[in-house]
Amino acid sequence: MYESEDSAQAPAATTAVLTGLGAWLPPREVTNDELCAHLDTSDAWIRERIGISVRRRADPKTATGDLAAEAGARALRSAGVTQADAVVLATTTPDHPCPATAPDVAARLGLGNAAAFDIAAGCSGFLYATTVAAGLIRSGTAGRVLVIGAETMSAVIDPEDRATAPIFGDGAGAAVLEAGRPGQAGSLGEVVWGSDGGRADAIVIPVGGSRNRDGRDAAPKSERHVRMRGNEVLRHAVRRMTAAATRAAAAAGWALTDVDRLIVHQANARISAAVSEALGIPPERVPSNIATVGNTAAASIPLLLTDAAADGALRPGDRVLLVAFGSGLAWAATTLVWPAGLQAER
Ligand code: UT7
Repeated sequence: MYESEDSAQAPAATTAVLTGLGAWLPPREVTNDELCAHLDTSDAWIRERIGISVRRRADPKTATGDLAAEAGARALRSAGVTQADAVVLATTTPDHPCPATAPDVAARLGLGNAAAFDIAAGCSGFLYATTVAAGLIRSGTAGRVLVIGAETMSAVIDPEDRATAPIFGDGAGAAVLEAGRPGQAGSLGEVVWGSDGGRADAIVIPVGGSRNRDGRDAAPKSERHVRMRGNEVLRHAVRRMTAAATRAAAAAGWALTDVDRLIVHQANARISAAVSEALGIPPERVPSNIATVGNTAAASIPLLLTDAAADGALRPGDRVLLVAFGSGLAWAATTLVWPAGLQAER
């Protein structure tokens, strides 16, 4: 049952179609040189080994829900709608351990009693959330879903850890998905997704959840922030994203040479280059914004989609292959043909 009165009505055979995109970044830029003032690193190392020049940081009073509401409002405006049946928020950095952040975001966006919940799937969170939203639409449970990826990574990064502090940035991106006809441009293709929990400790915040709770108050700073075995994650990221993207393209009936744009989670410019090379997709078909936003985890894919669309790098009819990888370890890939007339707002 749909809650909203002006919700898109699901036709007999439905698919989930992308109709709006929006993004928001907190205004404060943190340059590599600023990080070098208190970290044993260099501007050259960060540029060459990660591909980042600057990232954004939210001020201490700004939380993930604030970023998510800004991006969500832009996506709704981009779609030309004011209501949605559900809000699915992908984040690793919710406002509180309880409740979920999505209901507050829905209320602030004036979405009445829309169903609202969070999804925790790390940097793959946005593609997981779109998959769940598309399922809700295809099953007739919802006619229109606002999907958001938002992160305040600065809240969980140890500023003195050179293995993580230069990498992560804050930001949010959002998409509106609506019921449409199968085969319509903008329809999400099949997803290829998976996880490898046997390697869960490769990216972990050890303390703060229900495990290790006895020592929570006495835990050292390193236990309360993200800890990452970067090189191990990098190798798995390349392998898993290459395999998932290959299968997602095949599920869409595309040869990899048919792909017009590869949208890769912005983890590290070297990872994106290795995945595109393994897939045989030339660099000019692989948009990137990591240099100016950093790795924004669950916000990365919708931020990149919004930037690429606003910059004219995604044109109507383009065959777009999307792929992400991150903590869990978890990965996902899917496809869509870029719709006509979509005005992304950032
Ligand atoms: O978003 C999804 C999850 N995250 C990712 O996908 C991130 C994946 N990993 C990475 O992006 C990369 O592994 C990093 C950027 C984190 C590290 O790059 P790397 O090429 O894998 O470096 P490494 O960890 O193998 O370290 C190489 C060297 C080491 O020094 P020694 O032992 O060779 O002397 C590190 O101590 O680089 C050193 N190093 C640094 N040096 C300067 C590590 N971090 C830094 C740094 N500045 N910030």
